Amino acid sequence: MKLEDINASAWAKLETATRTPNASFRFLNLCSVDGEGRPQARTVVLRRADRLTCVLEFHTDVRSPKWLEISANSQVTALGYCGETRLQLRLQGMAELHGFGSPVAITAWSKIPAHTRRTYAGGPPGNEQPADTADEQASLISTDEAEGKVHFGVIILRVSVLDWYQLQRENNRRARLTYNDKGITTSHRWINP
Ligand SMILES: Cc1cc2nc3c(=O)[nH]c(=O)nc-3n(C[C@H](O)[C@H](O)[C@H](O)COP(=O)(O)O)c2cc1C
Repeated sequence: MKLEDINASAWAKLETATRTPNASFRFLNLCSVDGEGRPQARTVVLRRADRLTCVLEFHTDVRSPKWLEISANSQVTALGYCGETRLQLRLQGMAELHGFGSPVAITAWSKIPAHTRRTYAGGPPGNEQPADTADEQASLISTDEAEGKVHFGVIILRVSVLDWYQLQRENNRRARLTYNDKGITTSHRWINP
């Protein structure tokens, strides 16, 4: 891989992953920092990637801890690894939150299927669910998909740094790319792995 091809190649993989259910980069670890300065990580589905603006999109419940963490500290990292190609992508930047009533959330909500909409109609993520009523609770989740709308939120990550790491038997390669707020590449260089 040539240094000048890394940007297009990495973003093509991310864009493809949004349309490919089993792609490795379909599931990224989204990492934020909580109110006590502790790192927090969780798996999220990559819903959209745009190489022109260097933006990644994720969907979540606005009642979740991650939403609160990111509203207090917008610095996040998304981390992905593809076992098949042995490529790691570490994408760092600022996250924007778009909740109920925002144009971004309205557009995203209009595109998600009913069964996904229903996942937002249950109780607040992370709240205790008594073990003996877990199954009952599941069946009580509203089948009215519209009820979840107020809980649905979109996280837009504006990537400012891409750390690209290719594991190779004899010669690991690593590159660091930076972008400005319009998604224009401002630097790209090989760095020591
Ligand atoms: C394969 C997989 C995909 C997931 N996708 C999402 C997702 O797209 N959005 C989301 O909010 N949570 C998703 N989750 C759940 C999160 O990993 C996490 O457990 C949950 O959102 C609570 O995170 P928080 O307590 O840090 O807010 C997914 C979990 C798995 C196992």
